[in-house]
Amino acid sequence: MSAGPAPRVLAPDAAAIAEAARVLRAGGLVAFPTETVYGLGADALNDRAVARIFEAKGRPRFNPLIVHFPAAEDARHCVVFDARAERLAAAFWPGPLSLVLPRRSGSAVSLLASAGLETLAVRVPRNDVALKLIAALERPVAAPSANRSGEVSATAAAHVAQSLGARVDLILDGGPSPVGLESSIVDLTGERAVLLRPGGVTREAMEAVVGPLALGGAGRPGAPRAPGQLASHYAPRLPVRLNAQSVRPGEALLAFGPDPPVGAVETLNLSPTGDLVEAAANLFAMLRALDRPGRTGIAAMPVPGHGLGLAVNDRLRRAAAPREPLAEDLPSG
Ligand code: TXA
Ligand code: MG
Repeated sequence: MSAGPAPRVLAPDAAAIAEAARVLRAGGLVAFPTETVYGLGADALNDRAVARIFEAKGRPRFNPLIVHFPAAEDARHCVVFDARAERLAAAFWPGPLSLVLPRRSGSAVSLLASAGLETLAVRVPRNDVALKLIAALERPVAAPSANRSGEVSATAAAHVAQSLGARVDLILDGGPSPVGLESSIVDLTGERAVLLRPGGVTREAMEAVVGPLALGGAGRPGAPRAPGQLASHYAPRLPVRLNAQSVRPGEALLAFGPDPPVGAVETLNLSPTGDLVEAAANLFAMLRALDRPGRTGIAAMPVPGHGLGLAVNDRLRRAAAPREPLAEDLPSG
C-alpha cells in the first residue's frame, strides 16, 4: 500500500508555503489541499514537472490535467472565455468547478497538461493554502488528485502520504478536504455545454446560471468518457456491490440513511440523516477505511441521484466497475 520512504509533510504556514513554491519552481511535486480533494501539483509551464505527475501517479495514459489559477483573470491569459464561461466563473469561482475551454494559441501551459488537446481544463480553487501557493509560484499549477492511478482520491494529507509516499516531494497538510469530491467539469468548447464529470457544484446550480447542461463523460453511464477517464477509476481493492439492500456473508457495508441493514463485518454510514453533502465529504475516506483484507467485498446502499448524489453515484459506479487492464497491457498512445 505505502510507497517506501515517507514524504515530507508540513503545516501550511508562510514558511512552508514559500518552501513549497521553491520545490515547484525547481520542477518538483507538491501535494496541497483544495476544497475538493488534495492535488498533486506541478508548475504547469514546466513539461518535465508535469510529466513527473503522470509518473508519480502511475497513470496508464496521459489524461489531460486541470490547471489551477489564483483568479479568473489569470486563467484568461491561457484559455478563451465565452459568455457561458464568464457567467459560470462569476457564480462559482473560487470553487469546485473546472471549465474546459479552448487554449489560447501561444499559451505557455505545457501541452502535456492538455494531453495534446486544443483545450485546457482550468479552475480557481476555494482554499487559502492552494491560492497562496499558486500566488507564491506566480505560475499556474497543474494538479490531478493526489493519489496513485486507480485509487480513491485523497481527502487528507495522510491519504496522500499513504498513496504516493516519497513520489511526492512535499505535502502541505491543510486538514481534511471539506467538499470531499472532485470538481464538476463542464466542457464549453462546443455549442452545447456538456457536464463531463459531476462534482462539487451541483448540476442544478449550474443550470440555473447557464441553462441546460448535456450529460457527457461520467455524467451519463455508458457515454463516451472524457479523454482518459477510466471506467474503473475510484477503485478500492475489494469488489463493490451497488444498490445493496442487505448484507452478504463477509461484506463490509457502506450505508446511507437512518436504517441500514445489520450483519456487516463493519458498517460506515455516509450520512445517517441522509444528507448528500455529508455523504460526498465522507465517500472516499469511508471507501478507503472499509477496503481491508479478509472481507468478501463492500456492499454500498443506494444513494439518491439528485444534487451531489449524482457525483456520489458516479464515483460509486466507478468503484464497482470491472478493473481496467494494467498499464503494461494497454496499447501505447
Ligand atoms: O477537484 C478537482 O478537480 C481535483 C483538484 C486537485 O483540483 N483535480 C482532479 O484532477 O480531480 P484529475 O486529474 O484527477 O481529474 C481531471 C479530469 C480527468 O478526468 C480529465 O479527463 C478531465 O479532468 N480533463 C482535464 N482536462 C480536460 C480537457 N481538456 N478535456 C476534457 N477533459 C479534461
Ligand atoms: Mg483523480
